[in-house]
Amino acid sequence: MTKVMFVCLGNICRSPLAEAIFKHKVKNRGLDDVLWADSAGTSDYHIGEPPDSRTVRNALKNGVTVDHRGQQLTVKHLDEYDYIFAMDSQNHASIQRLVNGRRIRAKIDLIRSFDPLSPGGEVPDPYYGGEHGFQEVFEMLDRSIEKLIDYLVEENGIRTGT
Ligand code: 4NP
Repeated sequence: MTKVMFVCLGNICRSPLAEAIFKHKVKNRGLDDVLWADSAGTSDYHIGEPPDSRTVRNALKNGVTVDHRGQQLTVKHLDEYDYIFAMDSQNHASIQRLVNGRRIRAKIDLIRSFDPLSPGGEVPDPYYGGEHGFQEVFEMLDRSIEKLIDYLVEENGIRTGT
């Protein structure tokens, strides 16, 4: 099992959506017995809470069900996961502070390093914005995660049966 952790600040908007899109695509490709995902926040603001209702509603409009409860990223995750993907550079820096120079199992990167339209960009926080921001976030994550799964299949020698 290859394990992927998506990370944002609150773990109620961007990263639970990334997790849901990943699981949706992985299931559609018949890869759910080899690729696993979860999500976490760098903050403790929303531990135990369901995802933001705007995220859930927008995802459903795009055919994706979001089902998650907020959790905070911990040092334990750094060795449990193969990959940790941050939504923005602030999250990336917070993860690096948690790593604190140790050798860990997980490779850490920005999720939009896989975005074919803007490699290396950030997924902006939609929390304080309008509905349009949630659709924008959905589309950038959708594009990035499609390419991420291609990469994981290639990198980990996963047989897709096609
Ligand atoms: P997220 O969005 O990091 O995409 O889950 C946020 C949600 C809540 C807060 C910040 C960002 N907050 O400050 O409560």
